[in-house]
Amino acid sequence: MPGTTIKHMSSPLLTTSRLLLRPFVLEDAPALFSWASDTEVTRFLRFAAHSDIEESRKVITRWIEESRRPPFFHWAIVRRSDDRTIGSIGLEIQSLHDNRGEAGYCIAKHAWNQGYATESLTAVLDFGLERAGFHRIEACHSVANTASGKVMRKAGMLLEAGPLHHYYRADMLGYQDAMMYVAFSEHF
Ligand SMILES: CC(C)(COP(=O)(O)OP(=O)(O)OC[C@H]1O[C@@H](n2cnc3c(N)ncnc32)[C@H](O)[C@@H]1OP(=O)(O)O)[C@@H](O)C(=O)NCCC(=O)NCCS
Repeated sequence: MPGTTIKHMSSPLLTTSRLLLRPFVLEDAPALFSWASDTEVTRFLRFAAHSDIEESRKVITRWIEESRRPPFFHWAIVRRSDDRTIGSIGLEIQSLHDNRGEAGYCIAKHAWNQGYATESLTAVLDFGLERAGFHRIEACHSVANTASGKVMRKAGMLLEAGPLHHYYRADMLGYQDAMMYVAFSEHF
């Protein structure tokens, strides 16, 4: 018998040793544009690189609107030492019936390889499984995106399947074979 269900709530503040995870605000548009327009960052992602800051503003406006229709889980990753927005992370609900979601994240290039994605994902998995009522959280990466696989492992996720041949289409690269990782709730 499932012990939890996804709660009717939107992205609360999450604090880690170096980061604050908080909902996006329109003032984050220049920061979002800085990485969303960087094709090295968007290479394996499912959206086209932003060509205009107005696109970044529209995306944030959509996130703000979606946050008014909980459950919705999406955060700006803010470095506490200088209050700089350095990335984004979210838990997309895949099935409310099964309490299943998928984690996705990205970090601005200037902040890569300092453990920020791992720190963010660890906090979001903990929140999702311990507080928000998810039973199962998946994360997928292109087989070529080995850094993201490392992040998933370092955050405690288990490799469940892959390479999956049909799973995922990156905007720039087309269909990508993907590895699927998973984290489970203890509450089942
Ligand atoms: C993948 C990504 C989120 C990692 O963010 P990050 O903050 O640099 O991640 P961390 O610092 O927590 O960990 C990265 C790990 O990957 C390793 N790594 C970095 N580049 C690598 C590469 N090309 N090949 C293999 N490992 C690599 C790092 O050494 C580190 O491992 P370590 O701690 O054992 O040294 C970031 O590169 C990114 O935003 N990329 C573009 C968007 C993206 O791919 N998102 C994920 C989609 S599935």
